[in-house]
Amino acid sequence: MSIVLSRRRVMQTSGGAATFAALSAPTAAATTPKVIRLHLNENPYGPSERAKQAMQAALDDGWMYDNEDVAVLRRLIAAKEGLKPENVFICEGSTELLRIAGLIYSGNGKELVAGLPTFTAMLQYASRSGGQVKWVDLDANKKLDLSAMESRVTEKTGAVYICNPNNPTGTVVDSRELRGFIEAVSPRALVLVDEAYIDLVDTPEQTAMAEQVKLGRNVVISRTFSKIHGIAGLRVGYGLARPDIIRRLEEMRISVPNRMGLRAAIASYQDLEFLDFSRKMVRASVAYTSSFFDSLKVAYTPTQANFIMFDTGASSVDFATYMREKSVLVNPLFEPDDTWCRVSMGRMEHMEAFATAARAYFKKT
Ligand SMILES: Cc1ncc(COP(=O)(O)O)c(C=O)c1O
Repeated sequence: MSIVLSRRRVMQTSGGAATFAALSAPTAAATTPKVIRLHLNENPYGPSERAKQAMQAALDDGWMYDNEDVAVLRRLIAAKEGLKPENVFICEGSTELLRIAGLIYSGNGKELVAGLPTFTAMLQYASRSGGQVKWVDLDANKKLDLSAMESRVTEKTGAVYICNPNNPTGTVVDSRELRGFIEAVSPRALVLVDEAYIDLVDTPEQTAMAEQVKLGRNVVISRTFSKIHGIAGLRVGYGLARPDIIRRLEEMRISVPNRMGLRAAIASYQDLEFLDFSRKMVRASVAYTSSFFDSLKVAYTPTQANFIMFDTGASSVDFATYMREKSVLVNPLFEPDDTWCRVSMGRMEHMEAFATAARAYFKKT
């Protein structure tokens, strides 16, 4: 389940991880949803036609155990990144990778440095495995404060979590600064760079940190097929790292993605037309929603992802509750900003429905 922070909720041990939105999400089939899902940063255009055809063709192979699809996907990703298959870890959604890294690198008395707010899958697992999260507030522009994060690294630090673009703010850190940060910090602690939204940023070649793996640094780059590829429900993600780090992750893996997910991922990875289309659609929704917020003078963060964080001006839970009554799901509760809320980019008609309901709310309050 997609989870974004609350400091309090990360510390809770049972069930506290579920977000307001997750708790309120209906379980009905999502093909023709009665509710508008703008709470989990999904891509409503997925899966692509090619991914669907690949799954259809895979149906007859469902009876076999076989890791050949994993090998194919590893090779494809390695070739694109200029790495070797031994640098690629295929997992059941990037959440599996984040959890394993949380357990190995920041459980058992170790510390994990992370921004506040940020995506918490790794943080929750670390704290449940006996680690401690060291929170670092975002800077005035709601970006990760890399120098403040570096200053929190001690001999107890097992890992630093950098979500770039950061969820829930959508903000991106300066690439040169991040490279300097990795160079300085990675000899002392693992730097995990979560690039779940990397395909949506303005300059992916500059922003992506895969070359840090080639440089042999102590880093893991986490990616997912759940966002631009639009196959969140099929659970496929991957990590890039040095072979020795990949081996440690492999030792702790819980599962491998199923054949349908792998075949869909293999097809989608090569479907550049679909990725381009999705990117354009997300950007159109961002432009529409940003001008909607401008028209109401609502503050929001400059996003490079498929969601926008904005200030409701009062309780974000009240806002989300109102929106849910209008059948629009959004994600509130981003400590320390309890008035800020996150809305994911859906299809244009979804954003229009969001704007209609939100306008009525803001007029009323
Ligand atoms: C920053 C970030 N990382 C990872 C994930 C988890 O993705 P997956 O579906 O690959 O487990 C999400 C999901 O919302 C996310 O926002």
